[in-house]
Amino acid sequence: MSASIWRRPDGGASNDLAAFDALCAERAEATGFVRSVLGEALGRTIAAWERAAASSRAPHVLIAAGFHGEEAAGPWGVLEFLGSTPPDLLDRAHLVLLPLVNATGFAAGQRLNALGENPNRGYGAARGDDRPSAEGEVLLSHSARLAEAGRDGVLSCHEDRWLRHAYVYSFESGPPGAFSRSLVETAARWFAVAPDGEIDGCVVRDGLIHNHYDGSFEAWLSECGAAVAACIETPGEADFARRVQAQAALMRTFVEMRVAESALR
Ligand code: NI
Repeated sequence: MSASIWRRPDGGASNDLAAFDALCAERAEATGFVRSVLGEALGRTIAAWERAAASSRAPHVLIAAGFHGEEAAGPWGVLEFLGSTPPDLLDRAHLVLLPLVNATGFAAGQRLNALGENPNRGYGAARGDDRPSAEGEVLLSHSARLAEAGRDGVLSCHEDRWLRHAYVYSFESGPPGAFSRSLVETAARWFAVAPDGEIDGCVVRDGLIHNHYDGSFEAWLSECGAAVAACIETPGEADFARRVQAQAALMRTFVEMRVAESALR
């Protein structure tokens, strides 16, 4: 299969791992995030970037990207989020970012890691026969830390490579609420939303696949007690720069919604 690589607005390639790591460190440090290393998978470091809120009562939210290497707008969207989000919003949440989980897939412009494993399967009670990937083993070894980091909300940033529509996997107890719908509303400002029907065997309604437990990272953290979780899917067939902007906008909506919800408690 050919690699999925796009030209970035600054002229670089979407799979330039060295440029990504350098820009990530620059932007995260400039906005007050502190790096820690979760572990190594296939010779690559999986890093977490953390930023404490101004108030200890602020929500704990986790944003993770780059599980699939052909979904490059997620990781680049994290950098856009860091560069464009007002500090006073960042101050209102305890934030943990995993900007790039599957570095070998990212560098190759391929969905799976260098061993051919899927880094977004093999987690939690719904994993079935799927085994964790090398990256998954690292994340699973930090289950308590990740569950705490995402206790008030988890956002996993993906793309659907061959679609022109956006959609969202949502996890909320009961029917989809304001949290899930706000993500679809934000996506709709950038792309057409997937029509009602089926995607990958799942029922899509109003742009949402709701409470689908499939052994993914986000389904696992939902099982672990995250108040809400979502997996956003921007369309891989759309313009790359627009996808990056949309990813950042969705991350901002996610944080805003969790901050607003926590203010009601
Ligand atoms: Ni994906």
